[in-house]
Amino acid sequence: MSKTKIVVIGVGAVGATTAYTLLLRERADELVLIDANKDKAKGDAIDMNHGLPFVGKTKVWAGDYEDCRGASIIVITAGAAQRPGESRVDLLKRNSAIFDSIIGEVLKHNDDGILLIASNPVDIMSYFTWQKSQWPVRRIIGSGTLLDSARFRYLIGEELGIDPRSVHAHIIGEHGDSELPLWSLANVAGTGIRLDEEKKERIFANTKDAAYEIIAAKGATYYAVALALDRICTAILRDEGAVLNVSTLLRDYHGISDVYLGVPCVVDRGGVREVLQLDLSEREQRELRLSAEKLKELIRSMEG
Ligand code: LAC
Repeated sequence: MSKTKIVVIGVGAVGATTAYTLLLRERADELVLIDANKDKAKGDAIDMNHGLPFVGKTKVWAGDYEDCRGASIIVITAGAAQRPGESRVDLLKRNSAIFDSIIGEVLKHNDDGILLIASNPVDIMSYFTWQKSQWPVRRIIGSGTLLDSARFRYLIGEELGIDPRSVHAHIIGEHGDSELPLWSLANVAGTGIRLDEEKKERIFANTKDAAYEIIAAKGATYYAVALALDRICTAILRDEGAVLNVSTLLRDYHGISDVYLGVPCVVDRGGVREVLQLDLSEREQRELRLSAEKLKELIRSMEG
């Protein structure tokens, strides 16, 4: 049987926590850590290896780009992180050059895996990666609004006293300030969410601004995003056909094309198999278009 290899590029807070989550959940036979700071990757690998008697199975090592060969999934978390008060798009200029060279290296050694992008601004980084790789869209996936949707479900669940796994609710659009909540489709067991407007506004504001709050408090976010990345890896490795709000290329989606945004996608072994068409209200369609326009403008500013 062939071995399942996952490569994590960038072992800052997000990458290291993601690798540790994948290790705890025994998602891979081989887990490779790559970082510009080789000592950090090496230290993390040794540290994780010392935990193997308590979990077992996974072989972990600090590697080089050649180790991308044969990887089923390459998770990219490398790049500068948000500073307190900084938005994700503020990172664009700082991250795009680093990112471009990383993708170039990965593409030299792998041409049939799935690239799972988490570096911010994630929708734009995913779009650039897809353009550069010329791979099929389905194999370049951004973590999108999966994390935001999890935050949204958690906060609705807290308000209603319902387990967040039983709350079905979606945040779509940019993983960032122009994202939008789909209240019209939110439900618990098919029953609409009955909350007054003020509560809804507070829940969405807390969802959208969660990263700012966490970064102000402790400098970075990493636990929930690591679980979201693990969730996407699992959907791929188990060929699940799970519906996850990841970032993918939109093609005539409510009139939007040629931009990566978070929308509900069916994810299986091949990556994004299908984008689900949603029945959006007029307002939601308008907001999604605004989110797309914002990102396209930023993409144009980088290309121009
Ligand atoms: C967040 C970062 C990962 O939303 O974008 O927590």
